[in-house]
Amino acid sequence: MAIITEQQNESKPQLRKSKPKSNSTSPPPQPPSKSDTSTAANPFHFWFYFTIVVSLISLSFTLFSSLSPQDPKTWFLNLPPILRHHYSNGRTIKVQTTPNHPQVGVFSIQQGPTNSDSNVLIVPGIGCSSFSFHNIVKYLGNKYVHVVSIDLPGSGFSDKSITVVEDKVGGNNLWDVYEEIKEKGLFWGFDQLVEQGYVNNEELISKKEIVKSIELGSEEMGRVLSQVVDSMGLTPVDLVLHDSAFGLSANWISENRGLIRSVVILDSLPAKPALPVWVLEVPLVREIVLGSRFAFERVLAMCCVKSIGAVEAEAHRILLKGRNGRRAVVGMGKKLNFSFDLAEWSGLDGIRGLPIRLIWSSGWSEEWFAEGRRVSEALPQAMFVTHSGGRWTQEHNAEEVGESIYEFVTSLPKPTKQVVEEPIPEAKIGDPNHHQDVHGSHDHHNGHGHAHAGYMDAHGLDHGWAM
Ligand SMILES: *[C@@H]1O[C@H](CO)[C@@H](O)[C@H](O)[C@H]1NC(C)=O
Repeated sequence: MAIITEQQNESKPQLRKSKPKSNSTSPPPQPPSKSDTSTAANPFHFWFYFTIVVSLISLSFTLFSSLSPQDPKTWFLNLPPILRHHYSNGRTIKVQTTPNHPQVGVFSIQQGPTNSDSNVLIVPGIGCSSFSFHNIVKYLGNKYVHVVSIDLPGSGFSDKSITVVEDKVGGNNLWDVYEEIKEKGLFWGFDQLVEQGYVNNEELISKKEIVKSIELGSEEMGRVLSQVVDSMGLTPVDLVLHDSAFGLSANWISENRGLIRSVVILDSLPAKPALPVWVLEVPLVREIVLGSRFAFERVLAMCCVKSIGAVEAEAHRILLKGRNGRRAVVGMGKKLNFSFDLAEWSGLDGIRGLPIRLIWSSGWSEEWFAEGRRVSEALPQAMFVTHSGGRWTQEHNAEEVGESIYEFVTSLPKPTKQVVEEPIPEAKIGDPNHHQDVHGSHDHHNGHGHAHAGYMDAHGLDHGWAM
């Protein structure tokens, strides 16, 4: 790809330059003919080499793809038992991350009774997934807490790309020609070259299916949270936001205060994910990191976890690499809010009074602990609690972190009692027109209550707290 864009940049100025030259130097008879021959020769050479480069690239692509299985089916079939088991414990729900785009599958695991007072939603940070949290989910579920953890779109078992149909105007874009040659075969490219002296697809205006990697930003994150909380009946939700998930959710939290009971911030600096995104971005580095078990394990040990078993590390690598997850993660890394101001956020109307607990690793590094102290100072309402693990939770400290979450959510006021009583007086007072058919509307509300109980509860709570 790098080669192609470079050529494009070089070729365009050349073509542009040659045309004005022939115009400006038109009075003398000889120079134009010279420039004519050069412009005639140039495109041919250019397209000739271009076609060759494309052939080489496609050849290497087919070689590489034969080395590493790319299609999702093969990927699923080759999963190690530990991931198969994780997958079989979860289910996929459909979420729309962008208006007018198709829905994407969001993988989730769930434990505990749905009528619990606490509805915990654990959202993992960049590069991480619900797989990291399955032990915490199990721990909380065993303590009768309703708990869900999801893989954000673009990571884990969730969809990592979508196919979008777009109008495509073929033109001078080399990428289009490259795609065209890839699609129609190399000989098509050479045929074109022989017939016309260049490879052209200018007449093409077509609807094209484009596969886009899902790159979650703050807005998309908000849509994911809204839809997951709604469809899984988690309101009022106790959010557990790990790593970069906090920064991406911050806006949604301040705007949807009514849906949220509490927030746990788990080892999270809004714009500094534990897994450095550049190792997945820089060519060669990314091939080494994602291509080698050993290198990936070293990276995890350096940035995320205190110690990790080979099987666990390999599972993370497979989840990250599979179905082109790398691109989604890199895209997400670029959409982090690097100007996020924690102190400003904690002072927002929607955040003041929100119960927050900060769970932070004290055993990772001195610097990390100091960062935790700073975050804690910026969030005066948050209780600061430490744990002994790394920046990604693992099996050996899942119980510790799970216990801390449990202690926090069970210390909060119970939502259910207030909830059942509040919507009814609200409906009576708020709707004088409907007063006559109280029975009808009452039934309706009751019927409705099952599907959208969450929203009603949340609004009830919101009013309660606002006053
Ligand atoms: C980024 O952070 C700033 C400062 O906290 C905030 O005002 C802004 O809304 C955030 N942007 C997004 C897209 O979250």
